[in-house]
Amino acid sequence: MSLSKKVLRVGIAGASRGGGYIAALRSAGDRVRLHGVFDPSPQAAEAFATEYGAAERFSRFEEAVDACDLLVLASPQQYHAPQAAYALRAGVHVLSEVPAAVSLQQVDQLLAAARESGAVYMLAENYGYTRQNLVVRAMAREGLFGDLYHGEAEYLHEMKGFHRQASGEPTWRYFWQVGRNGITYPTHSLGPLLEWMDDRIVSLSCVGTGRWTDPEHEMEDSVTLLARTRKGALLRTRLDLLSNRPELYDYYAIQGTAGAYESGRGMGDQPRVYLEGQSPRDTWEPLMSYADRFLPDAYRVEHGGSGHWGSDAWPFLEFLAAIEHGTKPPIDIYRALEMTLPGIISEQSIAQGGAWLHVPDPRTLTAGIGIDPGREAPLA
Ligand SMILES: NC(=O)c1ccc[n+]([C@@H]2O[C@H](COP(=O)([O-])OP(=O)(O)OC[C@H]3O[C@@H](n4cnc5c(N)ncnc54)[C@H](O)[C@@H]3O)[C@@H](O)[C@H]2O)c1
Repeated sequence: MSLSKKVLRVGIAGASRGGGYIAALRSAGDRVRLHGVFDPSPQAAEAFATEYGAAERFSRFEEAVDACDLLVLASPQQYHAPQAAYALRAGVHVLSEVPAAVSLQQVDQLLAAARESGAVYMLAENYGYTRQNLVVRAMAREGLFGDLYHGEAEYLHEMKGFHRQASGEPTWRYFWQVGRNGITYPTHSLGPLLEWMDDRIVSLSCVGTGRWTDPEHEMEDSVTLLARTRKGALLRTRLDLLSNRPELYDYYAIQGTAGAYESGRGMGDQPRVYLEGQSPRDTWEPLMSYADRFLPDAYRVEHGGSGHWGSDAWPFLEFLAAIEHGTKPPIDIYRALEMTLPGIISEQSIAQGGAWLHVPDPRTLTAGIGIDPGREAPLA
């Protein structure tokens, strides 16, 4: 595909998190135009359109698909896969909020649509794009930590105030985040680890603490995932949306044959690395002392107003570049499902007392294969 000069019309579905994309749109300048917003709450849509200057308020999702070249799906998580599948089938590019899907049926539906569509699909997993995590990624890719065989991540975010509206009515999070038991919000933890390791999960076991602080929820207070990767590494992630504690939702650690990385745990704790043969013996060094050498030039630009430690703008900008250049986006459908499927399988594991279960390779799932011969994605 040749370089496109067309100004792409952007539609936002979901007016709340949708506001997190405005910094990216501003950075993209005249390559895009914020065309319209879809939100089933007319008040939310109106407020968004007025604040950010969107011309259209779509009253149905289908209208947004008809009117836009690309859509940002910032809707509640149970809608991501059905909305993405619908838009992709209509030839509209999709940047989806996390996770990509909430069930195996949705995975099938989304995968089939992505394989049949000529449009670009990308998952907007943003945590890999913090400055810190970009430095770790570059160091890992250069092999500074050697072969990575252990990874840890934690997303600890007490969200009890988000589970009901002021009226007492349950919100979508009540059903889809804490109304199920398992790692129901997996990608912020697994995304960076899998990218650094260039790996995917092949089996996992999931266990929880039991229900203690707010026991009406199906989800146990703290849920731990243990996972084996294709290359043989062991991963541990912890998701806790309920326990009474300050948040810590960007904790990561990796261990390789030649070194280790640990992010800070708050209270001024610094992210640190140890590189065997380079760092002084038994001594951590500040991660950011490596930033000058390892932060890729492309990521030195800062996007004003970009949330989540500056990370929010990058998924949109890389998605846009993939559309314009006809290239594969960095978190394509397969990467997206590698970050999403372990969460879905974790629900089966925890229900079976932590049984070790197989996690399928999304490349070999058969959804959509054969529907449009010659247009299938490569299986390798
Ligand atoms: N990547 C991140 O860092 C990050 C941060 C926050 C939220 N999220 C994700 O963004 C999504 C939205 O979260 P939120 O915090 O904005 O939730 P929210 O509850 O604050 O807002 C949800 C909005 O979506 C609207 N909505 C409901 N059904 C819809 C539909 N079918 N289509 C479009 N809009 C619909 C609601 O009216 C509301 O305005 C979730 O999937 C969440 O996981 C990601």
